[in-house]
Amino acid sequence: MVRFEGVGLRYRAIGRAGRSPEVLHDISFTLPDGVFRWLLGPSGAGKTSLLRLMYLAVAPSRGHLTVLGTDVSAAPRRALPRLRRRIGVVFQDFRLLPHLSAFDNVALPLRISGRPEGQVRADVTEMLRWVGLAKRIEAYPSQLSGGEQQRVAIARAVIARPSLLVADEPTGNLDDAQAERLMQLLHEMSRLGTTVVVATHNDRLVARHPAPALLLEHGRLTGHH
Ligand SMILES: Nc1ncnc2c1ncn2[C@@H]1O[C@H](COP(=O)(O)OP(=O)(O)O)[C@@H](O)[C@H]1O
Ligand SMILES: [Mg+2]
Repeated sequence: MVRFEGVGLRYRAIGRAGRSPEVLHDISFTLPDGVFRWLLGPSGAGKTSLLRLMYLAVAPSRGHLTVLGTDVSAAPRRALPRLRRRIGVVFQDFRLLPHLSAFDNVALPLRISGRPEGQVRADVTEMLRWVGLAKRIEAYPSQLSGGEQQRVAIARAVIARPSLLVADEPTGNLDDAQAERLMQLLHEMSRLGTTVVVATHNDRLVARHPAPALLLEHGRLTGHH
């Protein structure tokens, strides 16, 4: 379960007098386990900031935030890494590790959680095949196109079957067929119990896959259906 209760966020002002402006105001909503939600709104509305709160990269400036049943505002900092490992993230700018192959990037979450190497090999190979990268397994990020890097990032985010999956514009570099394949994957994960939140500008994709949406405008939640 994910719950925002009157959450506000301001980024810390560095080297500036005074407080920086709030970028999210009075955000309240609850996501039960296993739901799929679009996160919609114009550029600058606060979508990435809201996702950062959900994957614990930033802490709320006010209000209460519960992620996977843990009150993050009250939890000690040392409790967060364990919680963080249950969250899969597709970053808008991919954030692949440049010195690791596609295989090793995707394998990382499994290795961190101590999976046996035989299972890592089987799971990663199957996942990379599924996203259409069977022939690029040994390639490094710098050798991959934007769309290929995005698919590696998606594979890495889902490989360990996270309880919460957040994806920031995950189809920005994909063609329609690849985007549809991603949607299949996300729906399947949500069917298996993962809570999925996808920020997107891809109106055609949203039209093809109607689902409840969180709608952000100027840092406020203006719709939640
Ligand atoms: N690291 C940051 N430091 C300060 N301000 C930021 C930072 N990241 C985003 N912002 C500001 O927060 C607001 C919301 O940005 P963002 O969450 O990226 O929106 P979106 O993803 O909807 O385009 C914008 O005004 C942006 O300039
Ligand atoms: Mg954004």
